[in-house]
Amino acid sequence: MLDTPARTPEPPSTDPFALATALSGVHFIGGRFVPARSGRTFAVVNPATGIEVARAAEGDAADVDAAVQDAHRAQKAWAKMPARKRGALVYQCAALIRTHQDELARLIALETGKALRTESRVEAGVVADIFEFFGGLGGELKGESVPFAPDVLSVTVRQPLGVVGAIIPWNVPLLLMALKIAPALVAGNTVVVKSAEEAPLTVLRICELLGRILPPGCFNMLSGQGPECGAPLVAHPLVRKVTFTGSVETGKIVAKAAAEKLIPATLELGGKSPMIVFADCDFAKTVAGALTSMRFTRQGQSCTAASRIYVERPIFDAFVAEMKQAVDRMVMGDPLDEKTDIGTIISQGQFDKVQAFVAEGRATPGATAHECSAMPTDPALKKGLFMRPVIFTGLDATSRLVREEIFGPVTVIQPFDDPEAVLAEANDSEYGLAASLWTNNLKVGLDLAHRLEAGLVQINQNLVVQANLSYGGVKSSGLGKEASLEAMLEHFTQKKTIMVNMA
Ligand code: NAI
Ligand code: MG
Repeated sequence: MLDTPARTPEPPSTDPFALATALSGVHFIGGRFVPARSGRTFAVVNPATGIEVARAAEGDAADVDAAVQDAHRAQKAWAKMPARKRGALVYQCAALIRTHQDELARLIALETGKALRTESRVEAGVVADIFEFFGGLGGELKGESVPFAPDVLSVTVRQPLGVVGAIIPWNVPLLLMALKIAPALVAGNTVVVKSAEEAPLTVLRICELLGRILPPGCFNMLSGQGPECGAPLVAHPLVRKVTFTGSVETGKIVAKAAAEKLIPATLELGGKSPMIVFADCDFAKTVAGALTSMRFTRQGQSCTAASRIYVERPIFDAFVAEMKQAVDRMVMGDPLDEKTDIGTIISQGQFDKVQAFVAEGRATPGATAHECSAMPTDPALKKGLFMRPVIFTGLDATSRLVREEIFGPVTVIQPFDDPEAVLAEANDSEYGLAASLWTNNLKVGLDLAHRLEAGLVQINQNLVVQANLSYGGVKSSGLGKEASLEAMLEHFTQKKTIMVNMA
């Protein structure tokens, strides 16, 4: 047999480098760490130094088949378990994740370049919260009784779909995985996850933790390239549901493959989220809100990043100046250092893509690029993918920087004079994930909130995904919702009608 038992250390590890090495070269199938059938691996690189920290198993259709077959076998017994018992097990996982919060956070920081204090630790904490939330929902998998006829009992029951294929990206790998596996498991499905090429380690680490509580085969983790490992997962005949987070382009490929099999697909895709700031806003709170809305601490690598900021003309200049100063105060540096606010871009490919946007913005007549913060000076980081955040002014709706998802620390601020005009500009986008409005005039705010084409609109705040609140986009930003009870019922169960004639 190729397989080896779980071999990562039991108590939380404080050394992410050792953990990365220990997690090298394996998938997680049937509760065990196993190498790729082909024996192939690929490099996992620390984006803060450019140094390889691990090798990931390079999965293909044979590994997909092994994992899906295993998940299929495990699903029968898992679905038979009372729903609240399944929920209780998922709930227990939350406590174990909390115990390992720092360990997981360090590993996220190492493989993604996201700063430990501002991002990675927060992500690991939210993951525990997601498991806790869904773990409590086992009892909510209820059907209905339908008054069909007096002597006919007619009821609906909610049943699991079977094996769920989950494909996740690299920007918030652990959280985006949790949003898929926690509800899928509570609803009685089993799951095969395909991790992102750039961030396969933390999601693999958590498998070993969850495997201490959940039965083998309930969830399986594969690493590999999209076409070689993700595509066969979607296409596998025993996969009865697919849930995907990533780019619009890949989302369409996944949706087409799902349509070919007539299975449901949940898609959480990109965004070009507008932030609309009125002159009557609470100025200091709104400037601080712009920093969090733009996810500068995540190098802007967020589907909800406020990469289009519209500011009412009377406060435009003051807003730009204040925001620039606030970003200047953010510390860029080693993601594992507690002092660091801003880490690195994930990969050379993303770095080049973001730089190309910046170059195009700079070359646009009338545009100004305000570069903020400062590059780290530590020589150990000289090959790191650090990039100074850029605030553009002087660009308009015709610019590719205003229309396309950049997925980097780049935002464009434009002035506006009229609420109707800014609403039209905000809605003039292929995307519709999130939006925020900043005003003390709630009459105007609520009116615009109703008319903004976005799955999530927030007034005077711009929080990330929260357990219990449906999350998901409209237009090209996706199909379906995540993070809520309704999302679990709608996307991870199917309804069956049962009728009993008692006449
Ligand atoms: P991607 O959408 O290509 O990758 C996401 C996941 O899909 C990865 O696990 C990848 O291996 C998998 N995948 C790729 N091709 C596949 C296929 N044919 N079948 C099944 N799975 C496949 O995103 P990528 O290339 O990492 O980033 C490109 C752009 O996508 C970014 O610049 C950003 O604009 C956007 N993006 C959006 C995210 C979001 O949160 N909505 C997350 C990551 C990227
Ligand atoms: Mg791609």
